Amino acid sequence: MKRPHERSLISIGSMDESQLRYLLAVAKAFSRELGGSSDASIPLLTGQTIVNLFYESSTRTRISFEVAIRKLGASALNFAAATSSANKGETLIDTARNIVAMRPHCLVVRHSSAGSPSFLASALNIPVINAGDGFHEHPTQALLDAYTIEEKLGSVAGKRVVILGDIAHSRVARSAIHLLRKLGASVAVCAPPTLLPPKPEVMGVDYAYRPEDLLGDADVVMALRIQLERQKASMQIPSLSEYAQVWGLNRERAMLLKPEAIILHPGPVNRGVELDPEVADGPRSVILDQVFNGVLVRMAVLAHACNPEGLEAWLRKGGHLV
Ligand code: CP
Repeated sequence: MKRPHERSLISIGSMDESQLRYLLAVAKAFSRELGGSSDASIPLLTGQTIVNLFYESSTRTRISFEVAIRKLGASALNFAAATSSANKGETLIDTARNIVAMRPHCLVVRHSSAGSPSFLASALNIPVINAGDGFHEHPTQALLDAYTIEEKLGSVAGKRVVILGDIAHSRVARSAIHLLRKLGASVAVCAPPTLLPPKPEVMGVDYAYRPEDLLGDADVVMALRIQLERQKASMQIPSLSEYAQVWGLNRERAMLLKPEAIILHPGPVNRGVELDPEVADGPRSVILDQVFNGVLVRMAVLAHACNPEGLEAWLRKGGHLV
């Protein structure tokens, strides 16, 4: 049996296809069981306590982890860096060790420093779930993106996914590229040269500087926010309005897409910059489905990390997985 910290979820890059497919299949089984009801729960973690240790702002990830924790019957405790003793100079590791001394069962960590969740997982005897670390990875976002693509288009394998926006600073793009390629998609990225990594091809993706060169072949477009908070010293584009004119997904560019193509965005959306409101709210947009699916995949990740034997027994009893 794996020790607690070995059940951490740190990066998609370090996982193999079968582990990823397992988590997606668990999320699907949970979806069937919950049936979309607000009241239904799957109490696999009754009596457990899970701490959301967030050093960066979040709406979707933190709240959906909290909903997932409650639907599994566990208690959620939310650490807010702004009102914690981190303000008095306490280090990340001291903070985490003091929280772990209170015997929670799992830490969900968001931090601006790439590698923080990995560092904590190696130092603490408790599962750590990466909820976004700097511009490194956002693994549960990638899982919910893949889940949503499978829900809407049947499978990820064989699909062409275009990721449009600030690729260089995006942990969402990094995790999505790993996951979508491992599941058999072909991925292209598009951004101004200053918002692409130096050699995009080493990530196994195609790239173009203009959306018009890629949109016609896309089954899925994932639009990304400009990560102003991660751009050093100054903006790496002339202005947001010029970015919107050339790279924004507006009605005219959306008309280049195939009829069945879907549009994803991890949120928060800068309306009128990377997505026009009529595209963000239009029939191709699956943005709010992504948010709901975030609860399902985070339930899967937490159940696997905190009660793998109970999860296996639940799956067997319900005949959910072969
Ligand atoms: N997608 C995402 O990580 O959103 P939040 O920053 O609101 O959690």
